Amino acid sequence: MAFPNRLLEDIRARVALPDVVGKRVKLTRKGREHSGLCPFHNEKTPSFTVSEDKGFYHCFGCGAHGDVISFVMNTEGLSFPEAVERLAADAGLEVPVETPEARAEAERRADLYDVVEAACVWFETQLREPAGQAALDYLRGRGLRDETIAQFRLGYAPDRGAGLSVMLKAKGATEDQTVEAGLLRRPDDGRSPYPFFRDRVMFPIADRRGRTIAFGGRLMGDAKAAKYVNSPDTPLFDKGRNLYNFGAARQASFDSGQLVVAEGYMDVIALSQAGITAAVAPLGTALTEDQIRALWRLAAEPVLCFDGDTAGQRAAGRAAERVLPLLQPGKSLRFALLPAGEDPDSLIGRQGAGAMRQLLEAAQPLSDVMWRLEAGAGPVDTPERRADLQARLMKRVGEIAEPTVREFYRDAIRDRLQAAFRPDGNRRRGVTARGNSGAHIRNRIQQQNRREQQAILAALINHPPLRDIFDERLAEIAFDPDLDNLRQQLQNLFAGSADLDLAAIRAHFSNSGDETLLDGVLDKQVLMLAPFAGPKTDVEDAQRALEHLIGRRIQERLRQEVVELGRSANASADEAGLARALAAKRDAMETDRQLADIDE
Ligand code: UTP
Ligand code: MN
Repeated sequence: MAFPNRLLEDIRARVALPDVVGKRVKLTRKGREHSGLCPFHNEKTPSFTVSEDKGFYHCFGCGAHGDVISFVMNTEGLSFPEAVERLAADAGLEVPVETPEARAEAERRADLYDVVEAACVWFETQLREPAGQAALDYLRGRGLRDETIAQFRLGYAPDRGAGLSVMLKAKGATEDQTVEAGLLRRPDDGRSPYPFFRDRVMFPIADRRGRTIAFGGRLMGDAKAAKYVNSPDTPLFDKGRNLYNFGAARQASFDSGQLVVAEGYMDVIALSQAGITAAVAPLGTALTEDQIRALWRLAAEPVLCFDGDTAGQRAAGRAAERVLPLLQPGKSLRFALLPAGEDPDSLIGRQGAGAMRQLLEAAQPLSDVMWRLEAGAGPVDTPERRADLQARLMKRVGEIAEPTVREFYRDAIRDRLQAAFRPDGNRRRGVTARGNSGAHIRNRIQQQNRREQQAILAALINHPPLRDIFDERLAEIAFDPDLDNLRQQLQNLFAGSADLDLAAIRAHFSNSGDETLLDGVLDKQVLMLAPFAGPKTDVEDAQRALEHLIGRRIQERLRQEVVELGRSANASADEAGLARALAAKRDAMETDRQLADIDE
């Protein structure tokens, strides 16, 4: 969503930067300037300054610099629109909506948020009333500390009485709204409405910005009815899009790069209480595509926890299947299989947080899970059965939509099949064969990498309008030396005349000795990998694809820089070096966010 400049200016004008920064950094005031220890790098003497008048912060140690919006983005892991909306709300500014219908809808939703929030507070108070004593005992009996109960805002919905409706009515909510918020159910036969949640421990569900939008409710005893019920889908709540605890996990995950996905509310809460705060859960359904994409915004390889029993293994298999078509370079899932009959909550209870941490660290990559799923299905002791296994595995590989990832999977599966079927006596040769396949994989990476470089140049040759758009960014990505030379020549040509056609470009390179390089770029092998670079694609599609490819390469480079800087700084205990590494990490995260925006 595009925000009017007016709003951004209002935010900068109304929100005092020292107030926002002051929540995270202890600031000392000198006139209109404030200073403190930089939140973006480790330091012992303050080099971080905040200028109230200019509305900017600046760190003389690590170079971090920005305004109130970037401060919130960089310290809380919010995207630009989320930071803007948060700050606008804090400042009491209205985020303008485009149409009258959208405005009416927004108002209707705003009212519903208030209704759900009021209910959440009320359930919390009920837990402290005599009627809620059993529920409170139940939660404590399950090992929850009082501050955990408060942090997750757990509550109690009483068995009987119109307390909730009366309270909501007193706050101005209509019955329709209470029904729409999923708190009251209206029977079809015209009888009067009754509370949706009765005699249940209440788990509020918040959206990613922390607003309460729905509830899960658990029966305390042995259940005759469903153990958990969740709010129905409402204008605020969509089971398939929201994740339990996403808002709170986001900061933790953003800081650590880790993310754990459990199955239930109690698992998330137990993980969090045990210090594993980057934890979320779907809401009583299997993970959806939307949810997987949301997970990837926070961490490249979220770890899914499953019960080690057969049902859990099957669930892991289904999750693995579902994610194949979505895989992207660098993005995957890992799988932690718990001992049979355990979930994270029970495991932490029995064996402690350390055991849970170990299991998470030992989580298996998706490729291993896929292998085990098929190879473990039955004996593969005859050529026919082996052929069948290979066919099943390759069928799964074929479901990967992204070509680079798919090719690497194909290679990996082939290597694995070969290794698995090699007779024991030949294990030694197996080692050399694996060595070769390592080299083979490296070659493949290089070739792939080169084809991507060629595809970028081909896209610019075939789509003149893109030349200007990507002119500057081209300098930020690494090309092989010969292709870099070609890139320079092309950019010089385009600088002279931005809409040269292919014939004119060819003419320029004829007799230059670089003709074969140009042919390489326009080769059909390149177009097979990157069809968007060809002349037949729509220029907007080509632009989108190119944004992605270039964005990913820049991001890759930044990631590498982060790793290298971090490594050398750690080796020499160099503070400035660490600061550079952090700054580079921020750049990398910024690129991540831009890529995410392109996705939306
Ligand atoms: P589980 O049955 O594994 O329960 O359901 P749990 O999370 O271990 O719960 P405790 O430990 O017995 O309290 C996992 C998740 O599936 C959903 C809930 O979101 C639950 O957290 N669920 C389960 C339902 O929506 N309805 C049910 O009847 C059961
Ligand atoms: Mn459980």
